[in-house]
Amino acid sequence: MKTFFMIKPDGVRRNLVGEVISRVEEKGFEITKIKMMMISKSLAEEHYGEHKDKPFFNDLVEFITSGPVVAMQVEGENVVAQIRNLMGATNPSDATPGSIRGDLATELDQNVVHGSDSDTSAERELNLFFSE
Ligand code: RTP
Ligand code: MG
Repeated sequence: MKTFFMIKPDGVRRNLVGEVISRVEEKGFEITKIKMMMISKSLAEEHYGEHKDKPFFNDLVEFITSGPVVAMQVEGENVVAQIRNLMGATNPSDATPGSIRGDLATELDQNVVHGSDSDTSAERELNLFFSE
């Protein structure tokens, strides 16, 4: 099984790339594709299309395009759900200590990582980021 996993601009700015990747590797998953990149406005709007009617959509697009991200394809058993567990709850206030967001973030809009929330999202997002 495969998922799309990404270190957001705040994680890169705070030099957490190694820390986050270590957690994924130490858990036992395999990173089979990886690249650092800037996300264009159009890619951001497509990636977060499910949120386009939400009040925070513009801020979300602005944030995710504000600096480089590290985009990955990660493979392993039940990887979509297990990566979401490693990430912790969306709001770092609710994220359990031991999770990436629980240990490394304090704010909802700067929560360090993204991971696909279903197999369907994983396929869609991997195609968006790694199609070429
Ligand atoms: P992500 O897509 O980034 O992995 O996060 P997620 O699945 O845990 O959460 P999702 O509901 O998809 O929301 C995407 C990102 O939008 C920001 N957000 N802001 N202001 C708000 O009420 C609000 N709600 C969500 C978060 O940064 C979240 O990661
Ligand atoms: Mg999401």
